[in-house]
Amino acid sequence: MNTDIRVNKPEPFFPEQPLPQYNRSINVSRAIKGIEAVKPIQITEYFSNGLELLNELQKHLKKNMPSKTFKEQREYRLAYKKLSKLIYIKVTNHELAVKKAPAIGWLEKLYPEDNNFLLPFTKVQGLNSAWQWYKNGITLPVLRNKIHPFYGVYFPTRFDHLILFDNWLKRYQGPKKSAIDVGIGSGVLSFQMVKHGFQKVFGTDTNPNAIVGLTETMGETKMSRKIELDFASLFGKFEKQTELIVFNPPWLPAAHDLDKNDEAIYYNDTLFPEFFAEAKKRLLPDGKLVIIFSNLATITNATTTHPIEKELAEGGRFKLETCLTRKVKAGSSKTKREDWRAEELVDLWVLENA
Ligand SMILES: C[S@@+](CC[C@H](N)C(=O)[O-])C[C@H]1O[C@@H](n2cnc3c(N)ncnc32)[C@H](O)[C@@H]1O
Repeated sequence: MNTDIRVNKPEPFFPEQPLPQYNRSINVSRAIKGIEAVKPIQITEYFSNGLELLNELQKHLKKNMPSKTFKEQREYRLAYKKLSKLIYIKVTNHELAVKKAPAIGWLEKLYPEDNNFLLPFTKVQGLNSAWQWYKNGITLPVLRNKIHPFYGVYFPTRFDHLILFDNWLKRYQGPKKSAIDVGIGSGVLSFQMVKHGFQKVFGTDTNPNAIVGLTETMGETKMSRKIELDFASLFGKFEKQTELIVFNPPWLPAAHDLDKNDEAIYYNDTLFPEFFAEAKKRLLPDGKLVIIFSNLATITNATTTHPIEKELAEGGRFKLETCLTRKVKAGSSKTKREDWRAEELVDLWVLENA
């Protein structure tokens, strides 16, 4: 059913001429000069040569670019991004064509037809970590089974909002015939609803990888009969009214001057008004509309407008039933927490028809 959807993946590169190589016998300064002259380069011999060249490129840029102010840091990051993209590595028969390289299953899954091409080294690093998450799976405090997020799909790394939703579902007394999960991602919220007895969940996402990934991991299991998917915006083909609509939207407004185009994290001006208008048509008279949100945008001063409060104040469509809040626990103890993180809260907004 979903086999026609094109997944997002790093673009394979088929150079017409062989690229200059980088390995231990090549002078690193000369390699960096080439990169600065916008000439692509290919890592050969060992995987670690790629790590070394990236490291040297960072050192080189830091030496020549101040990175104290926010603007300087941003310029440094952009320069690094632009230049590091020129460092490639070869893929042959679904494996990296260098020694001591990690085995990355995505090379076969995402490029079944291509067996000789180059990929940017930094993208390969991303593929590698995504493969570890997918292969080993992620244990969540609210689900018995691990989730296996597909390449390029948002998955939760902190769990407070999932715990809030689970507690709410435990107490939910209404009917459990069907629900809609807008922006299903790795499927967590849908799995929670099924765990709590919902018979059918309809899930959408604008990210093709989310839909392809869930289709693949659910396979022919019982879950695949309970969760129906559509690769579409907002409610997609699901027109029927349901007793529960759930949305864990992006939590930050997209800044127009930056290239922030990750739809799992940043929302545009039209997302919430359209969502509420469409949700109104699909919520049964006694249904519940559950939205997971956080004060992240407010405490980082990204905006003063709160899209849910705005809807409640001006929309005339919904009224507030309850809003449950939880303080966000520290992520990994290894990561240094920025000051504003201390105030971070997640909310579960429960709305009803007005
Ligand atoms: C913050 S993630 C939440 C994913 C998942 N529901 C969860 O709770 O882990 C937001 C998801 O919404 C999707 N999304 C963004 N805009 C959308 C839209 N207009 N229609 C459907 N899905 C959308 C993103 O691709 C992403 O998977």
